[in-house]
Amino acid sequence: MYASFLSIGAYVPKKCLTNNDLEKMVDTSDEWIVQRTGIKNRHIADDDEVTSDLAYKASEVAISRAGIKKEEIDVIICATISPDYLCMPSTACIIADKLGIKNIPAFDISAACSGFVYGLNMAKAFIESKIYKNILVIGAEKLSAITDYTDRGTCILFGDGAGAAIIGSTDDKSKSILDIHISSDGKYGDLLITPAGGVKNPSSLETVENRLSFMKMKGNDVFKIAVRTLTKDVKDILAKNSLTGDDIDLFIPHQANYRIIESVRNKLKFDPNKTVLTVQKYGNTSAASIPMAMNDWYEKGKLKNGNLMLLDTFGGGFTWGSGLVYFNGK
Ligand code: UT7
Repeated sequence: MYASFLSIGAYVPKKCLTNNDLEKMVDTSDEWIVQRTGIKNRHIADDDEVTSDLAYKASEVAISRAGIKKEEIDVIICATISPDYLCMPSTACIIADKLGIKNIPAFDISAACSGFVYGLNMAKAFIESKIYKNILVIGAEKLSAITDYTDRGTCILFGDGAGAAIIGSTDDKSKSILDIHISSDGKYGDLLITPAGGVKNPSSLETVENRLSFMKMKGNDVFKIAVRTLTKDVKDILAKNSLTGDDIDLFIPHQANYRIIESVRNKLKFDPNKTVLTVQKYGNTSAASIPMAMNDWYEKGKLKNGNLMLLDTFGGGFTWGSGLVYFNGK
């Protein structure tokens, strides 16, 4: 029994935040943003639209494309760093309620941008150990709610959105989630951090005044470690599975920065036509980034049943991960 990637869905909020909009908010320029990041646009959720709403809409699409009934879902895993509530209830429980599903496990995981790949690995383990049959894995973010729109070093990067997948089972290895590797190194925690709001720095007038509940990033340091780690992780997973870049149909990296993606792609000599790029239109949507990118290619007809996807992700924690996944959707 192998885990199998049965469907992908996504939801992109309607409202756009362009580089020209950001030029009016902070000291930046379209030229700088495009040159340093590749980003031209991001989508921003409405004030009354929260992470679970984005996730719910993406999940409806994934469930319908998988051709299963909601009652057949055994577990809901939601990866997010922008949950509806800080502690409880989990966003996954709220999504379950919106979907009209109850009496199954539903929980969030916090692994920043790597969350979706972490979730896939958990789903794989649940299915291969025959504990559950169908798992809804979601990456969903309303990062605009934790972005400081006075900080030009971060506010140009992030956007909102959600992606969701149904993971089921197969006895055909060529339709399976072949391998996933996930990892972390907590010593870099302070390079990408929301300093306040947790028990270490509970929210107070002072933390609000100092804008400490927003994401802070030492971008340049993160950049260098990201390139190194992403490249190594891909080399390792390909070698472990006796595969080369030529065996891969689609390289789907975390969409943080075009320069990071290009740097990793060049080092690995991947074909640009096989490299999925959505950072220019969605920005960095953290845990939603990989499933949104995947959905984009799927809706363009470029992701087909039997395609071997190579996933590669990196984020706060630091966390990272890679995956070799056959797409088994219709
Ligand atoms: O998703 C999790 C992982 N996240 C990432 O992988 C993000 C990684 N980091 C990055 O993508 C890049 O580091 C950034 C896009 C955030 C920054 O690009 P950079 O090339 O590393 O720029 P930098 O931070 O070294 O800053 C260079 C200059 C600085 O000015 P000085 O000190 O040279 O005068 C910054 O103050 O650019 C300045 N700068 C800006 N200028 C115009 C920083 N942000 C901006 C801005 N507009 N938005």
